[in-house]
Amino acid sequence: MNWQTSINPEDKIVQEQLKSKGKLPRHIAIIMDGNGRWASEKNLNRLEGHKVGIESVRDVVKASSQIGIEYLTLYAFSLENWKRPISEVNGLMQLLEHYLKAEIDELYTNNVRIYSIGKLSALPKTIQKLLIDAKNLTKDNTGLTLTLALSYSGRWDIVRAVQLITLDVRRGKISPEDITEELFSSYLQTNILVEPDLLIRTSGEMRLSNFLLWEMAYGEIYISNKYWPEFRRDDLYDAINNYLNRERRFGKTSAQIHTEISNIIPTSNKKN
Ligand code: FPP
Repeated sequence: MNWQTSINPEDKIVQEQLKSKGKLPRHIAIIMDGNGRWASEKNLNRLEGHKVGIESVRDVVKASSQIGIEYLTLYAFSLENWKRPISEVNGLMQLLEHYLKAEIDELYTNNVRIYSIGKLSALPKTIQKLLIDAKNLTKDNTGLTLTLALSYSGRWDIVRAVQLITLDVRRGKISPEDITEELFSSYLQTNILVEPDLLIRTSGEMRLSNFLLWEMAYGEIYISNKYWPEFRRDDLYDAINNYLNRERRFGKTSAQIHTEISNIIPTSNKKN
């Protein structure tokens, strides 16, 4: 199915309204939280929450691609999640395998580029292979970059970067004086992404939970009270709308930001 031509006309209007309001976030990252609570409140097994959560993944990926978001990063399984009961871990791995097998063709034909971050060697071999195949198949796609954070933690990626930098210093490829923020970022697994503009967390919790710790230095945070299985494209639009109403100052003052904006608006568009 072509996501651009199959778009619902009412949805198209909402998307166009958002686009006309300002510069959309280039990179949206999501902590998909609350699957377990959603299921427990319905007297269902926790895995049912993860299963319905996949419907939310489908809808949010599709809407992000339609609206022209460049990067979407989903926290699907943290390094800490390995400590969950084995039945839940196995169930999540099966769901992930099913998602990758079922969705890859549609993602590919809709110009989505698949990427992943995290300690992939810890994942089952079948999933490692599916991810490698998906990345290879979609590597030349130019639309949405969909990054799955799997067996990932922000601290793990930072420590890994320190190890790699240390090796390069020891080999004489770089010297300690070369280590800048830019160089450090280039050693992180997120080095092909831009930094997140907007991080959404569902279920009302207000924590980063070890997600994109370095990258979120200046990212905006939006908390939705909905559980992830209930979160759909309209909730994504609400989050984007909220983001578009914020002023990003990156440490500067509001007056400085206003001066910068008025300097880039062509004189013909300025109000007298
Ligand atoms: C957090 O909810 C969610 C997870 C640990 C897993 C998220 C996985 C999916 C949505 C499905 C697979 C993903 C993809 C990309 C195919 P929780 O279980 O911590 O909920 P709780 O806090 O209510 O217990």
